[in-house]
Order: sequence, then structure tokens, then C-alpha cells
Amino acid sequence: MRTQVAIIGAGPAGLLLGALLHRSGIDNVVVEQRSADYVLGRIRAGVLEQVAVDLLDEAGVGARLHAEGLPHDGVNLSFGGQRHRIDLHALTGKRVVVYGQTEVTRDLMDHRRSLGRPTVYEADQVAVHGFDGDKPWVTFVKDAQVQRIDADFIAGCDGFHGVCRASVPAGAITEHEKVYPFGWLGLLADVPPVNHELIYGHTERGFMLASMRSATRSRFYLQCPLTDRVEDWSDDAFYDEFARRLPPDAAARLVRGPALEKSIAPLRSFVAEPLRFGRLFLAGDAGHIVPPTGAKGLNLAASDVGLLSRALAEFYGGSPAGIDTYSQRALARIWKAERFSWWFTQLMHRFPENGSFGERMQQAELAYLVQSESAQQAMAENYVGLPLA
Ligand code: APR
Ligand code: PHB
Repeated sequence: MRTQVAIIGAGPAGLLLGALLHRSGIDNVVVEQRSADYVLGRIRAGVLEQVAVDLLDEAGVGARLHAEGLPHDGVNLSFGGQRHRIDLHALTGKRVVVYGQTEVTRDLMDHRRSLGRPTVYEADQVAVHGFDGDKPWVTFVKDAQVQRIDADFIAGCDGFHGVCRASVPAGAITEHEKVYPFGWLGLLADVPPVNHELIYGHTERGFMLASMRSATRSRFYLQCPLTDRVEDWSDDAFYDEFARRLPPDAAARLVRGPALEKSIAPLRSFVAEPLRFGRLFLAGDAGHIVPPTGAKGLNLAASDVGLLSRALAEFYGGSPAGIDTYSQRALARIWKAERFSWWFTQLMHRFPENGSFGERMQQAELAYLVQSESAQQAMAENYVGLPLA
């Protein structure tokens, strides 16, 4: 098989890149190690920035998102018995759209199928070759046969544990990482949201987040020790703890229902530099991870592939300038989102190892934030997302 761009990974980064390249008339093949159902079974974040919405529109997959997504004009912070609303729209003129990553992925999959663009699911032993020259290729095993795809470029959209970043020679890449000493226990259930907007809570029992997928489906999170096992958290234990961490008015509205999904995710900040190695590019979680507090993971994946698809379109239009600056432009945006996600994570979680001084600094910073219009403005601008470039 031969194509222009071989895309490794059928998560949101890989599928959106494929759709954007298609729009520019660039041929591409997606190679994914899991099945489509497995990919759709992963429950992840659900807040889209305008940049991501625009790119999904540009790719031609925005219809259901506009019909079913929930535009949110604000988010709420709760701490020390107070609740404070950050008016995103008043502060920035922008809003975010609550729409699950699973739905984004499903829309992209349906769209790709309707275009007839090839996706190879359940590809084993995916390997990338020759990207330091100008004729890279990809190999994998499918139905017990070794297959090969020759391409002009390889896009590594294969997530944090993927093969692309791991295939780069150690001396050519620098990795920056911070692992946080706790995880998020998430629960998805068909119950109405406790509030019409998200509530991020800092409590002495730890962080909580009340989010949603629709008017009838909620997504709730609790900060938990990394040693906790999801099997040890019954639904009742989850709801009991969640109710303790919610502000009282929202706790009074909490409706309990059986978990459709429950999982524990570790929190990490990670950036690989650069994001281009000859004819291999990294995009999305393959190149960077943010803790979920700022809801930036999916949005960064979208902005990376927005930049990359434009760069590749310019290349086929006759100019290498875009691919030459992709890494630098994407990383400039990534570091801003890393800073925001790190800051918001530090602000909202409980860090017993930082002692009472650390806790008082968090309280003082929260008090400052809700008193200072400029601090709220800075937070709101970062939350709704910075422009693409
Ligand atoms: N070969 C082929 N595919 C692979 C390989 C491999 N060796 N390794 C991983 N993959 C696939 C995974 O199975 C997954 O479907 O690559 C895909 C990567 O998708 P995601 O992990 O969803 O990453 P990305 O598309 O960058 O999306 C980033 O996902 O993790 C969330 O919060 C994050 O919202 C952000 C978004
Ligand atoms: C979610 O709805 O899953 C979600 C929302 C906001 C976040 C993280 C996760 O910051």
C-alpha cells in the first residue's frame, strides 16, 4: 500500500488529522492497534474549546456537536464553603462546549467511514521505519500477514504509550515530566448534573469535579490516592464521598445511579521536544500529556493536528516552511497549556506533603483569584483556550 501520510493511532488526534488532510486532498491511511469498539469504550474528558470546535467544523464533522453539545458560559470554583463563578463569556467573549471525547471520536469514525478512507484496526506489531530519510514506511501484522505502507510522512498520533515516540533515537529527543502523587477516580452515570455548569472543588478531603455529558448523564471525579483500586470503591462509597466534597446546595441535588463506568487515572504533565524527527511528526498525547484539571488534553490534540494538517497542505502546495516550524509552533502553544494545567492542578488538589503552609497558600491564592478581576481574566482566557497560532 502507498499513501501520502500514514497516521498511527485512531484516537481523536489521528482521526481529526485524517479528516483535515482529506479536506486538503491529501491521501492518508490510519493504522490503529485496537478495535474501533475498544477505542470508543475509553471514557475521557468532555470540554471543547472554540479552536477544537472550529477544527471539527472545518473537517466537516461538527453537525452533531452543534446539535447536542452544551455551550457553557462559565465554570464554578468551590472552596472553604464558598462557591465562585468564573464568567468565561463576560471575561473573554468566548465559551466552551461540553461534548464527550467519545462522541467526538464516534463522529470522526462515522465521517471517515462515509468518505471511504482506509482505517486498519487491530493492527499488531506496528513499527515505523526510515523517517530519517525521505521514504518512510510503516509495517504491521494484520490477520497473520505482515503488511507495509509506504508514505511521504508518518504522523505519530498513537498516544502516550505509542510506538512512534519510542522509535525516536534517545539522543534526538528530550522529555520533561512531572507525575502527581494522586489520581482521579471517575464515575459516569445516567443521572442529571448537580449543576448546570461544571464545579471544580478544593476541599480538605481532596479535589472534586462535577461534570456532565448531557442533561441526563453526569461525569463525577474525586481525587484519590494512587494506591486505591477501583474495585474497592463501590458506587455508594463514591457517592458518599462525592457528596461530602460538593458544596451543600449541589450535594442536595445529587442523584445517585449505577456507574456505567468507573476508573482511576493517574495525573501527569509531560512534554517531548521536539515534535518532528525528519519525516515523523508527533501530535496529541504522543507528544505531551496534561493533567485533566484544565480539560486541555483533547483541545491540545486538536490544535496540534490543526497546525500539522496546514503544514502538510503547504508542503504539497510547494512550501516546506510549515513542516519546518510545526514543532516550534505547536510547542509554544503546548507549554502555555501545560502551565495552565499545572497551575490549576496545584491550586485545586490536596497536597498533604506541602504541610499547613502549602494549604494556606492555596487558600490565599483562591481568595486572590476570586477577588481579582485580572486574575480571573487570565484564568478564563486560558480555560476557553488560546488562539491556534
Ligand atoms: N500502533 C497503533 N496504534 C496505537 C499504538 C501502536 N503502537 N499505540 C497506541 N495506539 C493507539 C491507541 O490505541 C489509541 O487509540 O493510538 C491511539 C491514541 O489515542 P489517544 O490516546 O486518545 O490520544 P490522542 O488521539 O492524542 O488524543 C488525546 O486523549 O488521552 C486523551 O486526554 C487526552 O483528550 C486527550 C486525547
Ligand atoms: C469531563 O467531563 O470528563 C471533564 C471535564 C472537565 C475537566 C476534566 C474532565 O477538567
